[in-house]
Amino acid sequence: MKKISLGLLCELLQHALARMMDLNGVEPFINPVDRKEFPDYDKYVVHPMDLNLIKQNITKGLYGSTEAFLADVQWILHNSMSLNIGSGQVDVRFFGAHDRAWVPAKDCFLYSEKDPNNFRTKRQDLLDSIQEAEDHIRNISKKFGKFVHPPFKTQFEPSKLNEQIKLMVRKFNNRHINRQADPGNTVLSYKLSTPRPLIV
Ligand SMILES: *[C@@H]1O[C@H](CO)[C@@H](O)[C@H](O)[C@H]1NC(C)=O
Ligand SMILES: *[C@@H]1O[C@H](CO)[C@@H](O)[C@H](O)[C@H]1NC(C)=O
Repeated sequence: MKKISLGLLCELLQHALARMMDLNGVEPFINPVDRKEFPDYDKYVVHPMDLNLIKQNITKGLYGSTEAFLADVQWILHNSMSLNIGSGQVDVRFFGAHDRAWVPAKDCFLYSEKDPNNFRTKRQDLLDSIQEAEDHIRNISKKFGKFVHPPFKTQFEPSKLNEQIKLMVRKFNNRHINRQADPGNTVLSYKLSTPRPLIV
C-alpha cells in the first residue's frame, strides 16, 4: 500500500467513523456501557471499547495504521458478541456445522481429552467436528507451542478468559488476542448435551 501521512490517515479514519456512527442500531456502541445498568460488565469484558473512544483516539493521532484502527473496532464487535450482558450467556461457534448459538456459560467446559458427553453411538457429524477441533488444536500448537488438555470438566469462566487460555496454551498472552482478526477464536470447549465441540 502507498504510504500516506498520519494527518491524511486521521482524516480518512474520521470519515470511516462518521459512516459507522450513521448506521442503524449503532446507539449501544457509541458510549461506554452503563455500569449501573450492567454491574457485571467488567467481569466479562476485558477490553471495553466504544465509538466515542475511537474518535478520541483518532483525534489524538493514536492510530498509525488502518490495522490499529480495525483492531479497536474489532473489540467492539467481540465485546458485543462474547456476552449477552446480564444473562451469563456466551456466543459460541461450533466446529463441524459452523453454526453459532447463545449458550449458558455454565454449560461450557474447556476442551478436555475425554468428551464429557455421554453418547452410546458416535454420530458422524460429531466425529467430523472432533476431527476439525483436533486439526485446530494442531494449528494452535504450531503457532503457540504445546496444547495442554485441561482437567476433565473444567468449567469455562468468561471472566477468567486469559487465565483459562493459558491453562491450555502456556505461551499465549494478551497481545495475541489484540492482534487477531477474530479475538475470541482461541478457547476450545465442550458443551454438555450438544453433540459438538465448540469454540468460544
Ligand atoms: C484508544 O483508547 C483506549 C482508551 O484510552 C485504549 O484502551 C486503546 O488502546 C486506544 N487505542 C490505541 C490504538 O491506542
Ligand atoms: C489449520 O491450518 C490450515 C493451514 O493454515 C488451514 O487450512 C486449516 O483450515 C486449519 N484448520 C483448522 C480447523 O483451523
